[in-house]
Amino acid sequence: MRYEELKPGLFTGDILRMGGTILGTTTHGDPFAYPMPDGTTQDISPQFVSGFQELELSGLIVIGGDGSLKILHRLAELGGIPMIAIPKTIDNDVPLTEYAIGFTTALSTAVEALDRLLPTAESHERVMILEVMGRDAGHIALSAGIAGGADVILIPEIPFDIEKVAAKINRVRERGRNHSLVVVAEAAHPLGEDARSYITTQGYRRYGGIGQLLSEQISERTGSDTRVTVLGHVQRGGVPSSHDRIVASAFGVKAVDLLAEGKTGRMVSWQHRQVVDVPLDEVNQRTRAVSLDDTLVCTARGLGISLGD
Ligand code: F6P
Repeated sequence: MRYEELKPGLFTGDILRMGGTILGTTTHGDPFAYPMPDGTTQDISPQFVSGFQELELSGLIVIGGDGSLKILHRLAELGGIPMIAIPKTIDNDVPLTEYAIGFTTALSTAVEALDRLLPTAESHERVMILEVMGRDAGHIALSAGIAGGADVILIPEIPFDIEKVAAKINRVRERGRNHSLVVVAEAAHPLGEDARSYITTQGYRRYGGIGQLLSEQISERTGSDTRVTVLGHVQRGGVPSSHDRIVASAFGVKAVDLLAEGKTGRMVSWQHRQVVDVPLDEVNQRTRAVSLDDTLVCTARGLGISLGD
């Protein structure tokens, strides 16, 4: 068994400024179907439970996105382990919380990318397309597109019509601006078609390629010079935003308090500028997509941004 004792001396203040994980954890290690070197999978969940018992821990605070939290909840129930969860994913698609740690950091990277793309868009009179992550949810694309002044934002929740996207680019040009910014979420897809994805050799579904497709189709339909930037994993690391540091701090304090109160099976959550706790059972039943009447969807439409529909 490998473990790291989290002594106060380990925290010199640096951790607040770091992205990533100090424990070396991964989302790709389902203990109920753990990938073995020979390509098979094995249920190693009993090792997890016995490890918890051997270390004589009183409870667990776990941090992750919806997939990880589902697995961890199952493990906790299996071993009768008191557990409090903290939502953390750049996708921001964990239900019952307005924020998951990592989202606003990824968002600022995406907005910075748009800030950097604009000068070339202007000087070269181009349509610059930025493909961002988020899996099945369009939170990063929607927020980044608004904050970065995009003309078109395409998200998985609103299947797009390429003719409407092209019409928007043409309208922008007719009004005298020869450049545009387009933000597309990795799982955005045309109406009636699936998102572009493939299954890795390890059996995971990965999204990608929609930016390139859009670039070709916009260029064909509008005659514009188009270029694609796929932001990729640059969104995942980096120095945490101040908002993420604040939310993470508040979540950490609340999680410790809940465990101390003897609570279990709860997730800390950010709702209306309050840290509250919600049942993990409910969190695990769904994911939080962008709803069609979301304030930011209305904001984008109000600003004249095309959502491709
Ligand atoms: O869930 C977080 C996330 O960054 C998604 O936005 C993205 O699709 C995925 O992870 C990328 O991870 P991987 O490289 O393992 O496919």
